[in-house]
Amino acid sequence: MCNLNASAETLLEWYDTHARPMPWRVPPDARKAGMVPEPYTVWLSEVMLQQTTVAAVKEYFIAFTTRWPRVQDLAAAEDADVMAAWAGLGYYARARNLLKCARVVAREHEGIFPDTEDALLKLPGIGPYTAAAVAAIAFDRPATVLDGNVERVMARLHAVKEPLPGAKENLRAHAAALTPETRPGDYAQAVMDLGATLCSPRNPACGICPWRTPCKARQEGIAAELPKKTPKAAKPVRRGVIYFAQRTDGAVLLETRPPKGLLGGMLGLPGTEWQEEMPEGKPPVKADWAISPEAVRHTFTHFHLILDLAHASLPQGTDVPQGSFRNVKDVPPQNLPTVMRKAYILGASLRQTRSDN
Ligand code: ADE
Repeated sequence: MCNLNASAETLLEWYDTHARPMPWRVPPDARKAGMVPEPYTVWLSEVMLQQTTVAAVKEYFIAFTTRWPRVQDLAAAEDADVMAAWAGLGYYARARNLLKCARVVAREHEGIFPDTEDALLKLPGIGPYTAAAVAAIAFDRPATVLDGNVERVMARLHAVKEPLPGAKENLRAHAAALTPETRPGDYAQAVMDLGATLCSPRNPACGICPWRTPCKARQEGIAAELPKKTPKAAKPVRRGVIYFAQRTDGAVLLETRPPKGLLGGMLGLPGTEWQEEMPEGKPPVKADWAISPEAVRHTFTHFHLILDLAHASLPQGTDVPQGSFRNVKDVPPQNLPTVMRKAYILGASLRQTRSDN
């Protein structure tokens, strides 16, 4: 075979034997036999996979599709149930948009996902990446899928030295030029798999890569150095106070966060705003608050967060102006977003230590 130029066929041959098994994926041999993926599961998996790894997504995907097997089931779900099931996956605006999109598809499209990139782009929460991925994978349209893995593969294949994000449109043009008319759905997954496995960020396995011959970065010996990235500004640090109020029966004060903003619509412990200047504490209820010697630390996309944890024990029958006391059986910490889960676990361990002493 002549593989002096990178070709989709070479990559598809590799994919035929190396496709990673995934719960939402129709493997290449099944696809060739005529099996087509369910657009609902393709869309759901692609939304979950944004900013997250395949390993992290698997159990969420199985939980969602077991509980809500069709888009109509998801559309009919309670917001709070979907937000709780999403807890831990991060980027909670995605979960809110997921529900909005399911409801639009259920109500305005009779539960059937549109089958073109343009029509998909009109749905809530579907951006260029998801529209292209769903059009390609679910409907075998020759759409160009460009995620971080594909950017890396293209940057190396063509030895693009311009740093990201400036190089993005150039990389998109390279990706588009390679997208085939035959098996575009498998090709989209193949190029993402290549980026996620052999063409890895630090130690690319160039020796066994199906595109090793045409790869310009490999020829120049610079594969591991690409893609170049414009250095990001250091993340600022924000601070705040978070309150762990536990009643004597063990129930903990939780509240639903406002729908807009970070962790919008998610359940969490009450707390102050998060600011670069430590905001003034505002406890949710009068109590004998103690401050934990250990803080809660979490990093979001745009900032590091350090929260002082205030904890207190409250008698049964305490009235609170906002939120409610929830038992661990009704709201296990895994139903909380990660930063809230960290605070909850720290708070519970402190209360435990106090009652042990
Ligand atoms: N990353 C995101 N979506 C993917 C897919 N469908 N296949 C492989 N890797 C992916």
